Amino acid sequence: MSSNSQLEKERVPSIVILDFGSQYSELIARRIRETEVYSIVMGYSTSAEQLRELAPKGIILSGGPNSVYEEGAPLSDPEIWNLGIPILGVCYGMQVMVQQLGGRVTSAIGKAEYGKAPLHVDDPTALLTNVESGSTMWMSHCDAVEELPDGFVRLARTSNTLEAAIALHSRNFYGVQFHPEVVHSIDGMIMIRNFVYNICCCQPNWTTSAFIDEAIANVRSQVGDKKVLLALSGGVDSSTLAFLLKKAIGNQLTCMFIDQGFMRKGEPEFLMEFFDEKFNINVQYINARKRFISKLQGITDPEEKRRIIGTEFIRVFEEESIKLGPFDYLAQGTLYPDVIESSGTNIDPKTGDRIAVKIKSHHNVGGLPKDLQFKLVEPLRMLFKDEVRKVGRALGLPEEIVGRHPFPGPGLAIRILGEVTDEKLNCLRDADLIVREEIKQAGLYHEIWQAFAVLLPVCSVGVMGDQRTYDWPIVVRCVSSEDGMTADWSRLPDSLLEIMSNRIVNEVQGVNRVVLDITSKPPGTIEWE
Ligand code: XMP
Repeated sequence: MSSNSQLEKERVPSIVILDFGSQYSELIARRIRETEVYSIVMGYSTSAEQLRELAPKGIILSGGPNSVYEEGAPLSDPEIWNLGIPILGVCYGMQVMVQQLGGRVTSAIGKAEYGKAPLHVDDPTALLTNVESGSTMWMSHCDAVEELPDGFVRLARTSNTLEAAIALHSRNFYGVQFHPEVVHSIDGMIMIRNFVYNICCCQPNWTTSAFIDEAIANVRSQVGDKKVLLALSGGVDSSTLAFLLKKAIGNQLTCMFIDQGFMRKGEPEFLMEFFDEKFNINVQYINARKRFISKLQGITDPEEKRRIIGTEFIRVFEEESIKLGPFDYLAQGTLYPDVIESSGTNIDPKTGDRIAVKIKSHHNVGGLPKDLQFKLVEPLRMLFKDEVRKVGRALGLPEEIVGRHPFPGPGLAIRILGEVTDEKLNCLRDADLIVREEIKQAGLYHEIWQAFAVLLPVCSVGVMGDQRTYDWPIVVRCVSSEDGMTADWSRLPDSLLEIMSNRIVNEVQGVNRVVLDITSKPPGTIEWE
């Protein structure tokens, strides 16, 4: 696939975050965007020259896992201190600032701080304007600033850390040892606003409507009068993309919806009705159910199932795109976290080298091969998931799509353990619908990250009426999560579980038992596979 020069047309970031490998780098970018200021994440070794060209209004050095005094620890280009741009160092980023400007950082043996700590404000100006003295901030460090560089002053301290917030006011350099971006830092957002608005003088122009206008103009100028193909899955990303592209290029857009046969009850029908009939978006429905299920015959290994589904998806896509085409462009719902990950801004905690993080293999299954002869249109590539939802809503997508729970690409096939058969699929579809209906009925759908049913291919004895049964169990899996990386099992009310269980054993053919999964992630995963 050939890429295009989309980047050149992208808007200039107001704030650049230089990533030293912290798990919170993306979160800093999201928090800044919440203040309607556009920010992006770049590698820590981005040169001063690149930054001068980009001309952001402020730079933030993120945290990171290294010790700044160790040999080979990642540092900034020393020229960034001469750019005349305000800089905020967060945790490791502050230590980089101190070290590079002539101060000293040492190990904080016996004084390391993890978790919440009250911040005593000594200088309530600039960065700490309106930050209440005594307010809680989130600390996570085992090194500390021992000696400030020339001209720096202390803004705040905690009981364990003298230099918890520092400044060189004359040059607009600031450093904080804590993490203002995490929710536990009570006045963290006040600080972030102080930095972007009062210190960097940014304008609040990163809004959903501004994004939509720019994205539409960019797509139009990129695509011209050429034809675009989009693989529509019905998820938030591809649905938002379909709406955005329809608005930008109208009938030059063709969507392809491949029905693998692993969707939830009524979903293919809903998708066709919604996009094709109601919103007049050209969706080609490809019924590939038989192809997929026959490929899975006798296959029990979960990785093998995923591989087969992924390969078959690509085959069907290639065949059908030739039939429907030719197309010049392929639209993809790539999001910003994928862009950051694949640009390799992550850092090996041992060596400090930049490494590309391997995205879990299963998240790539169902994606498209790299050698298709299309140019790419990726208008959502600079957005975080919550921003995509806002764009989707603004474009008129209903809550049913925008607010829906994540659903894996291989669908119900990975929620049936062992071999996938039509009989099991029908059974799981019915059980899954009951779980979702009851969660919605209880008003809990939007409080839960995912709620679904899993079918186990073992039989156990039951009794129904006077009949002995020997049927499958259904697992109810409900979890709360922020991002799917970690999760906790949802504590559902007994009355809700009772209704679910009764309905499933009474209404679903082939099921005589319902069990509840009470495992968090880790050590469990969300899906059973
Ligand atoms: P696990 O099971 O690894 O899942 O805890 C984490 C999150 O990822 C979702 N998931 C997928 N999403 N394609 C996707 O788009 C996939 O193949 C896939 N597999 C798992 C899962 O539902 C959960 O939200």
